Amino acid sequence: METIATKPIPKVPGFPVLGNTKQLLNDPLELCVQSYQKYGPVFRISSLFDDIVVLAGLEANQFLDQRGDEFLTAEEVWGAYSKELNADNNMIAMRGDNHLKMRKITKRGYSPVMFMGKEKASLEALDESFEKLCQSKSVKVLEVVQNMTIDLLGLLLANHKPTGYEKDIKYFLKVVLNVTVIRMWPKLYLKHPRYLKAKKRIDELAKKVLAYNQTHEHDQPNLVDDIIAAIENKEIELSDADISLMMLTPYTAGIDTVANNVTIMIYQLMNMPELKAKAKAEADEFFKEGSFDTKNLRKLDVMMRITMETMRRYPIAPVVPRTAVDDFEYEGYTIKKGQLVYMAQGVAHFDASIFKNPYQFDIDRYLPDRAEHKTKSAWSPFSLGDHKCLGNRLGEVMVCLITSYMLHQLDFEAVPKDYKMKFSVLPTPGPDHGFKAKFWKRQN
Ligand code: HEM
Repeated sequence: METIATKPIPKVPGFPVLGNTKQLLNDPLELCVQSYQKYGPVFRISSLFDDIVVLAGLEANQFLDQRGDEFLTAEEVWGAYSKELNADNNMIAMRGDNHLKMRKITKRGYSPVMFMGKEKASLEALDESFEKLCQSKSVKVLEVVQNMTIDLLGLLLANHKPTGYEKDIKYFLKVVLNVTVIRMWPKLYLKHPRYLKAKKRIDELAKKVLAYNQTHEHDQPNLVDDIIAAIENKEIELSDADISLMMLTPYTAGIDTVANNVTIMIYQLMNMPELKAKAKAEADEFFKEGSFDTKNLRKLDVMMRITMETMRRYPIAPVVPRTAVDDFEYEGYTIKKGQLVYMAQGVAHFDASIFKNPYQFDIDRYLPDRAEHKTKSAWSPFSLGDHKCLGNRLGEVMVCLITSYMLHQLDFEAVPKDYKMKFSVLPTPGPDHGFKAKFWKRQN
């Protein structure tokens, strides 16, 4: 007879009513790392609105990678977001064959192939953003990097920079994600006139992007072209709302992820002058002809290792939320159907038996003689399993190229010089908006 595990799941102490909300808002990763060390691979936490079971550690990562989608779904977590946009098909919320089909259709559009033929145009877009940075005595780093990321995503994936819509995109995403997915803001925010205005503008942008690509041929098909072709070939059936959601997904998935990493890297480089000098020399060599070849990206070895280490040390998605599809047993505990589960993939990044001195920022851990990231499913900033980031390589390359080209063109210092980075969580864990810096053109 099958035995049903009935061990109670250890509960991490918290405050009455608020539970662990304060820790979740301050540093969810550290909450999970410490709780894992104290309670093991399964523990229970709570936020203002939810009771959450956390699965953490290397085995949990391997479970997510190999069998996660059998037992867990993101359908409910992302359902309210899809509903807010009247959409039925949202890749992150899908399972099974339809999900695989969506991934197949959009795979090329979310890959670094999108840089091919647009190398020069990408650098020109960055130059334009850099020009603006240098005009101010100091700028909020995260904000300006978000804007350059938006422009680059638009150019690469849709041949259409969403100029003038940047504020609407950022505001809309902040509100909709904090209310519907992160569930830390009350639903009332979705009725606020500023939000409703931004939502209308976003819909207008999605329609413009689609219309532009329907009427313009490109030498190299972009993400939108591939989606249009799949609809025309009857590979998928999508409503207008589904299509609008797909036009928006590069921004939902790409802005905070790329911009948070670039911003942290700028801060790290300010505080690690030797590393900065090495990365700068590499960047000068890479961009010496005034452009670059997408096929040669491997030559940015130092910057790629800085990117990997930033993603390990400061993962922007330390957990991914899911719900249990059915009752299942894990490590001797029963996880009940419908239970909200956080897969805390970032915890393995701080396992000292895998990553030596895990709190130290050390790019040499990726050199062939150490290769600490090669332990299966340990290095997992892009999550694991069926929903592993589809833009993982594109994201890495964007982060690496933006930062490298910035080093080639600009110099910078924090304002004030001794600024210490603070972090915030909503909607995506990363640096807070308080980090300011002065940028100027390099004299070479
Ligand atoms: C640069 C750093 C990035 C990081 C760290 C990152 C991280 C992640 C993570 C953790 C997930 C899984 C979310 C979950 O399972 O709940 C994800 C999914 C996804 N990401 Fe990224 N991402 C990055 C950049 C990008 C970019 C630039 C794009 C495209 C513009 C992108 C497109 C996607 C898509 C489409 C999915 C959904 C995949 C699916 O559900 O099958 N990501 N990303």
